[in-house]
Amino acid sequence: MHKVQRVSSLRAAVVAARKEKKTVGFVPTMGNLHAGHIELVKVARQKTDFVVVSIYVNPTQFGADEDLGNYPSTPEEDARRLAEVGADLLFLPEQATMYPGELATQTVVYVPELGDMYCGVDRPEHFYGVTTVVSRLFNMVQPDVAVFGKKDYQQLTIIRRMVADLAYPVEVVGVDTVRSAEGLALSSRNGYLTEEQIEMAPMLRTVLQKTSDAILNSRSSFKKLEQSAITKLQAVGFEPQYFKICRQQDLLPAARDDEKLVILAAAVLGKARLIDNLEVERS
Ligand code: PAF
Repeated sequence: MHKVQRVSSLRAAVVAARKEKKTVGFVPTMGNLHAGHIELVKVARQKTDFVVVSIYVNPTQFGADEDLGNYPSTPEEDARRLAEVGADLLFLPEQATMYPGELATQTVVYVPELGDMYCGVDRPEHFYGVTTVVSRLFNMVQPDVAVFGKKDYQQLTIIRRMVADLAYPVEVVGVDTVRSAEGLALSSRNGYLTEEQIEMAPMLRTVLQKTSDAILNSRSSFKKLEQSAITKLQAVGFEPQYFKICRQQDLLPAARDDEKLVILAAAVLGKARLIDNLEVERS
């Protein structure tokens, strides 16, 4: 696996791959890779011939009081795991490459509404940052296929919308969340949990599952189910930020007769803000 920092080197490698008639897959990350990221690279590997992975901790998607300064970084271990799983190129851009000008005057890519709800309420700048950096990365890498985790369900939906609205010739693939044996969705931020909280954290998944069962098997209103889930999470020490039963296609609140649903949840546990979701399909 080659490592490059400059866009010119990245482009030269991608052009060389294309000359060999290879298709290009892309997995953007912020590093500190875990089994969830590795799964994304495996999917890119299966779907394309030349796999580019980027590691860049994007400052514009962090709020002023968030963990940008302490974001976990494990560069050697990341490179070792990526080489092992068969990534072809690791792109490690510097800040000046990603944002050549002042951050305050940088062009931004903004997906209205979808970017303003749920995580966008508590983290108002977050999705501006994500869509801006992902659109820049897409322009740099020019992939055929880009792979994202379903754990960040809202992010995945927003990126799909951005790709459709801006006519990017990129197929966006969503990959199922990888979990611990106890059901906790893997995340770089799980490292902020104490041992006791790690034992409690899978409760978020349990409450999602119970809500899904109730959607399928009871006549309770969605409002009631959401409120009951919030109460259960509070009772065991979570501070829920939202727990919503939504439509998969646009994440708007679901109605009883919608068939493709997703339950989205975010809750703070100790120093970690956990997000998770569960797709529910009714026929
Ligand atoms: O999901 C992430 O790790 C980040 O939001 C992404 C897509 C790499 C953009 O910085």
